[in-house]
Amino acid sequence: MTTLPWYDRIPRTRIYLKLPEILSGLAEVLSGTGMGEAKVAAFEQAFAEMMGVGEAVAQPYARIALHHLVQALSLPAGSEIIMTPITIHDIVNVLLVAGLKPVFVDINPQTYQMDPERLTQAITPKTRAVLVTHLFGLATDMDSIQSICQQHGLVLLEDGSHAYNAAWKGKKLGTFGDAGFFSLSSLKAVSTGYGGMVIAKDAAVLARVRNQSARLPVVAKGHMGGILIRNLIVNLATHPTLFSWSTFLLVRWISQRSPETIRKWQTDNPNVLRLQEIPTKWLWKFNDVQASLGLACLARVKDWDEKRRANAQILLDHLMPVAQDRLPLLVEGSHNVFWRFPFRAPEGAVFRQFMASRGVDLTTTLLPCCATMPIFADVAQETPHAQRAVREVHFLPVHPTIHPHRIHQQAQIVLAFLKQKAGIHVPS
Ligand SMILES: Cc1ncc(COP(=O)(O)O)c(C=O)c1O
Repeated sequence: MTTLPWYDRIPRTRIYLKLPEILSGLAEVLSGTGMGEAKVAAFEQAFAEMMGVGEAVAQPYARIALHHLVQALSLPAGSEIIMTPITIHDIVNVLLVAGLKPVFVDINPQTYQMDPERLTQAITPKTRAVLVTHLFGLATDMDSIQSICQQHGLVLLEDGSHAYNAAWKGKKLGTFGDAGFFSLSSLKAVSTGYGGMVIAKDAAVLARVRNQSARLPVVAKGHMGGILIRNLIVNLATHPTLFSWSTFLLVRWISQRSPETIRKWQTDNPNVLRLQEIPTKWLWKFNDVQASLGLACLARVKDWDEKRRANAQILLDHLMPVAQDRLPLLVEGSHNVFWRFPFRAPEGAVFRQFMASRGVDLTTTLLPCCATMPIFADVAQETPHAQRAVREVHFLPVHPTIHPHRIHQQAQIVLAFLKQKAGIHVPS
């Protein structure tokens, strides 16, 4: 029976920043040399080149990118914004603070992306915009969504935080809409510790976003240092050797005693609040430390995308013949980057424990279904596919630094689970 070796177990995720990069960022923060903006334009330019657009504007967070965008687009208060229900709750907060009404439409249960038919049904005379989140780095039929928006005169916004370099019919996700925004936080494929980026079709919209971010204060050293230290801790905790010898054993020990504790700790965050205004702690100017980190990620992002895609393909090759209904539907025309590899396992903790007993640590998506969160009860919608996805979808690790051999072994372990626990016939 396949079990990963005790010295090379697989963590649920790894960050995209390398240890020396984080340490050099910390040194710059401590010496005070990294708080300026000399390198920011170069990072914005490199980002714009990756996206194949003329200009990009760096932001303190993706949520602030959206905050600035809705102001720059002058969406009138009371407008309805149709959106994907699975995202971080603060994206919804930003819309509500702007006086906009989020209208959640369910996802397609096979692709996990916004369902164009449901989108059409949700349009009312008050609808002004559509916010599509490209979940997990998988691409959907953007022709349909774009043509619905054009037909109804709606602004199309894309959240490409999971989908750097994913494409639909050769065109990058994030470039279909009037504007696209991206998170650069620590788990993203392009990371600057924290941060965001905006691109837009209309140069005047982008200029307004730039003006707003130019007015923000310089980040406090302690805040920037704290973010880098958190990145350092996650980097070390998921380093193959340290993870195998310490983090994995700790996570397993806790999970065996209380299977839901860690997942709940990550999802039932006491800081999940309904906001009345944008917190000042989110409003900082993008700086040179972040730009250097971002440039390092951009230099390798394509190579790492390909490695992650190759890892995902290994899983698909092994699992598709026996468990197609648990895998995402990959639409023809889509170029998927698999920021996460979604695998349906309604068995929940039983699945997680089986995988952990053989050396693979994994979890469900930690993003909530915002359509049913108690803090958003006044705009709640039944979105059963999204609710089910949040419960059932587990991410099989495919990080580009995991050796393909270990991914083959991971696939064998999933197959063993399907055979033993789910009673699925798996030819030997
Ligand atoms: C889909 C999606 N959108 C937006 C964000 C928010 O990013 P930020 O923390 O940069 O605001 C995240 C963060 O995980 C995300 O997953």
